[in-house]
Amino acid sequence: MFDDPQSPAWTPLLEAAWTARSHAHAPYSRFQVGAALLTSTGTVFGGCNVENAAYPVCLCAERGALSAAVAAGLQPGGLKAAVVVTDVAELTPPCGACRQALIEFAGELPVLLANRHTRQLHRLENLLPHSFTGGHFR
Ligand code: THU
Repeated sequence: MFDDPQSPAWTPLLEAAWTARSHAHAPYSRFQVGAALLTSTGTVFGGCNVENAAYPVCLCAERGALSAAVAAGLQPGGLKAAVVVTDVAELTPPCGACRQALIEFAGELPVLLANRHTRQLHRLENLLPHSFTGGHFR
């Protein structure tokens, strides 16, 4: 299902990500990003990037979606699939901070990158190998 980038299972996530992207607040970079996360309860959470005149305050779309999911009860291990959409030719992978934030709540996580024409499927564990987790200091 989520191991096929063309699977219809991605459709609700893609729709949520494009909708969220349409609300992006990106007046500084003019680079609008949308994200969507599917949790084990079957719920899809969208997120968009939210920039700020104080640049370090900017929030990525992926962490916006994650925040919404956690506020609704997402527990570690409860992330099932993720989508990141942009409207540029080169597909946008999650930044390092977002990879780290997502892995806290993911077991294995398929991550679909998409624009209007192309899809590319990755796995979070490959995007962030040898990741630092709570297990390293507990
Ligand atoms: N951005 C995201 O929202 N997600 C990513 O994966 C990469 C970057 C945003 C942050 C900033 O608002 C803009 O893209 C340019 O870096």
